[in-house]
Amino acid sequence: MGFTGQAAAGAGSGRSSAMRMKGKSGRGGAKGRGKAAGSAIEGAGGQRQLNVRLKNARSRTASSQRWLERQLNDPYVAASKREGYRSRAAFKLIEIDDKYRFLKPGQRIVDLGAAPGGWSQIAAERVGSIGGKGQVVAIDYLEMEPLAGVEHAMIDFTDPEAEPWIRGKLRDGAADAVLSDMAAPTVGHSRTDHLRIMGLAEAAAHFAGDVLAPGGTFLCKVFQGGTERDLLDFLKQRFQTVRHVKPPASRADSAELYVLATGFKGRG
Ligand SMILES: C[S@@+](CC[C@H](N)C(=O)[O-])C[C@H]1O[C@@H](n2cnc3c(N)ncnc32)[C@H](O)[C@@H]1O
Repeated sequence: MGFTGQAAAGAGSGRSSAMRMKGKSGRGGAKGRGKAAGSAIEGAGGQRQLNVRLKNARSRTASSQRWLERQLNDPYVAASKREGYRSRAAFKLIEIDDKYRFLKPGQRIVDLGAAPGGWSQIAAERVGSIGGKGQVVAIDYLEMEPLAGVEHAMIDFTDPEAEPWIRGKLRDGAADAVLSDMAAPTVGHSRTDHLRIMGLAEAAAHFAGDVLAPGGTFLCKVFQGGTERDLLDFLKQRFQTVRHVKPPASRADSAELYVLATGFKGRG
């Protein structure tokens, strides 16, 4: 299964059409063991249709009953447990990187909004930070259990201490990729939720513009409707390629989308 990648030029302006992309064979997939790209759990038995139904328990509300059934029937949740990943979100990064291949051995990676640690696990595997080759520096304002090959701190990214802490950890003070899966808790008011996530995305993009080494990558969660015009312009001036991607692991009914900017042109 391929996944949708939308050229960012049109994602905000409505000018370009979404492309259906065919996945190539994966280079690692879960735990680096050659899974198909597109859906990272394809061929691993993970796409099997699950159909768990729960008896109504008086202690559960209807919405928590629905949430629980969705979790129990979600092949990505099952696959993440099987593969030892801390989140089903790990498969989003696997799928995006299997397709665009920006994580490489020896690189320095920043993971913003890292808890519980799925993306950091994948980044650590792919850059080889467990063996000391690459580096993963992660933050979240929530607590996160330590992870091999990952230096992390419990800091709010909007706190003035966050950026100096990250820079202080990075070898030569620069990163090869800035990843942001940050999402503020939703309040259910779509405009407010959209503004909050886009505020975080903008802050992450400006940070990436300051900290990336030439050739670097920025991957960031945004909301359907695409990236705001200002942010898109900012990224297009600084990166060779900017696109929107929606990997199969991102639920179809979710407004979540990722902006992927590759080929950082440098600060000069
Ligand atoms: C979708 S989760 C990230 C999942 C993670 N990528 C994984 O694979 O395990 C979003 C995270 O963003 C964090 N977050 C939201 N706003 C933040 C902020 N201002 N500073 C740091 N972390 C933030 C949340 O605490 C949450 O853990």
